[in-house]
Amino acid sequence: MSKATGDARLFYFIMYTKKVIDFFRNPKNYGKIKNPDGVGKVGNVVCGDVMWLYIKVGKNKQGQDLIKEVKFETFGCVAAIATSSKITQLAKGKTLKKVLTISKDAIVKSLGGLPPIKLHCSVLAVDALSEAIFAYLSKNKRKIPAELQKRHERIRQERKIIEEKYKDWIKTEEQMHNGE
Ligand code: FES
Repeated sequence: MSKATGDARLFYFIMYTKKVIDFFRNPKNYGKIKNPDGVGKVGNVVCGDVMWLYIKVGKNKQGQDLIKEVKFETFGCVAAIATSSKITQLAKGKTLKKVLTISKDAIVKSLGGLPPIKLHCSVLAVDALSEAIFAYLSKNKRKIPAELQKRHERIRQERKIIEEKYKDWIKTEEQMHNGE
């Protein structure tokens, strides 16, 4: 069996839930934010797909930082787009502290599950949101929670591997992202 035939068969055997298909077909908060307060750019170590997530931060009545606006651009599969879309919906209007507790498992659960071979795709959304918050806190010289610092280090290490392993693919995705 050729690789192409194998891939095509694999595609047809992947069963997504109705919610996943809906979030993929009608993505919420897709696009860029002009002058964002933070941007998270992450790649997936398993497949090399890339995601950008933009945030605007506001304050609630208690003076706590919250996600006022959030948008994403994902170059990835159905699962990656659905989970990116879902995380923006879950994060909007919530405090940064609360948003940092959103786990990949919670996103997958809220979409009714993902096929096991697609679970790695849900990592992009959580990592991109963490990185956008990290960028916002760093830019404003704010205290970075220890857990977020740890996540940032892990993502930074992974990015090095991805940039080396998927050099050409990432270049193509970045050109598409920049409209070249
Ligand atoms: S296969 Fe790359 S994100 Fe799903």
